[in-house]
Amino acid sequence: MKTKILSPSDSDIALAGEILQKGGLVAFPTETVYGLGANALNEEAVKKIYTAKGRPSDNPLIVHIAKKEDIAPLVKEITPKAQALIDAFFPGALTIILPKSRLIGNVVSGGLDTVAVRMPKNKIANRLIAAAGCPVAAPSANTSGLPSPTVARYVIADMNGRIDAIIDGGDCEYGVESTVITLAGETPVILRPGAVTKEMIEAVIGRVEIAKAVLEGMANDEVAASPGMKYKHYAPRAQVVIVNADKKEYEDFVNSQKNAFALCFEDDCVNIPKVTFGKENDGASQARELFTALRELDEMGAKKVYARNPGIKGVDMAVYNRLIRAAAFKVIDLKKPFFIGLTGPTGAGKGFAGKYFARLGFNVLDCDSFVKNIYESNTELLSAIEKEFGAGIVENGVLNRKRLAAAAFSSKESTARLNALVHPLVIAECEQAAKGLTVLDAPQLFEAGAQDKCFKVVCITADKDIRLKRITQRDGLTREQALERMNAQLDEDYYIAHSDYVIYNNGENIEEQIDKILEDIL
Ligand code: TXA
Ligand code: MG
Repeated sequence: MKTKILSPSDSDIALAGEILQKGGLVAFPTETVYGLGANALNEEAVKKIYTAKGRPSDNPLIVHIAKKEDIAPLVKEITPKAQALIDAFFPGALTIILPKSRLIGNVVSGGLDTVAVRMPKNKIANRLIAAAGCPVAAPSANTSGLPSPTVARYVIADMNGRIDAIIDGGDCEYGVESTVITLAGETPVILRPGAVTKEMIEAVIGRVEIAKAVLEGMANDEVAASPGMKYKHYAPRAQVVIVNADKKEYEDFVNSQKNAFALCFEDDCVNIPKVTFGKENDGASQARELFTALRELDEMGAKKVYARNPGIKGVDMAVYNRLIRAAAFKVIDLKKPFFIGLTGPTGAGKGFAGKYFARLGFNVLDCDSFVKNIYESNTELLSAIEKEFGAGIVENGVLNRKRLAAAAFSSKESTARLNALVHPLVIAECEQAAKGLTVLDAPQLFEAGAQDKCFKVVCITADKDIRLKRITQRDGLTREQALERMNAQLDEDYYIAHSDYVIYNNGENIEEQIDKILEDIL
């Protein structure tokens, strides 16, 4: 098929309207993104949209109208809340879902009994729909799964040869698709955030909810309120990872990465290959540029992309919602004090793992040495210990470790009392020492509750007899002493169940396992 590239001239719009009327497909600009239109009342025409996009047939389309009066025939009823939203936001970047009328076929609605309606503000879109003389079903004009096109050249890239015509109307004003809200249930729910924000909608109709899938990934067995939310979306070929960090932390992080690209804000000081998407604290500019930036990264051949995190307030939510899907929900959180918590039962080989992280350039904090320092230098702690466990434990300002061990490790309860004094001090010192990608080597990570301060927790473990042998040899303990020490710890199962990753050290290659883990995290 030869695709006509049209201009927004009156004669071209008239021609495009005629193509739609006759059951053809026309891509056209709107204020959000380019749409791929067909006559919504012609099921055969609508089917062609799914084919041209490679779109799953259960993902319903938005029906676009040119005049507010054209809504009533498409829906069962315009409820008072729907009317209020129409009065406030039509024409504009809002799509309203209502129970559908008999006019709407099952192809348009993806088999649902509701219909999504929108009246674009863009003049070219409005003139085209009016010229077609029918409601126009139109998803974004991209190949399914790719970022929505916000400029004509990406519509041409995806649709040339697959549809009848493309109207080149320049760049889209907003750059992200419309806000989708359903009024078909009891409470209004935003299914997709856009330029019309939750706050703007609530000012008109009161409380609305935001569907969980907007900001989080969906489990495989969850039913999506909006079928579009379940598909991997806006995905460039490159693997995108969102980096949750301040400007400086982000810059330091990406500038230390090799073979990666940055998707950052205009003023970020980044010296690896980069594409920018708008300015910090300016959601509108980010929205306008995000999809084009994602496509440019592919054009540059990016394989790995670290993206700056746009917040989630106001329009930022729309940007975040698209970006987190482009990233397949992968986020690196540098806002946690510790990037990785490294723990595991005694004798498992934590020390070796820690050394390897250090060789890779991580800032590794050894909690045991912090504990030792604190016992040696923190006089307040020593008097608190004396108070708790009796005189004689501290002599001339020096801790008698044997006596403390006898008093504190005699029961779980007394151990917990000692931990409550020591752990907060250790964590505080480690937080002070944390800088960049920090690994917290902490045998008692879980006992101290420090896992919440780690982005990811890695435990290293080994079979019990191997650990037993290691600690008897290493620390010169008898079998009984070693067993006693092991039994005072958490079970191996506990470590495994509460960690994000497990390293096994029964002769397996630790470095290879760590490389794999880092490949997954980074
Ligand atoms: O800004 C926009 O809305 C653009 C322009 C062209 O108008 N259109 C657009 O359409 O983004 P599309 O098909 O790419 O996205 C429509 C979204 C999908 O996630 C779809 O699942 C959802 O709206 N949707 C449509 N009808 C629905 C319905 N009846 N119930 C629930 N979700 C619906
Ligand atoms: Mg789309």
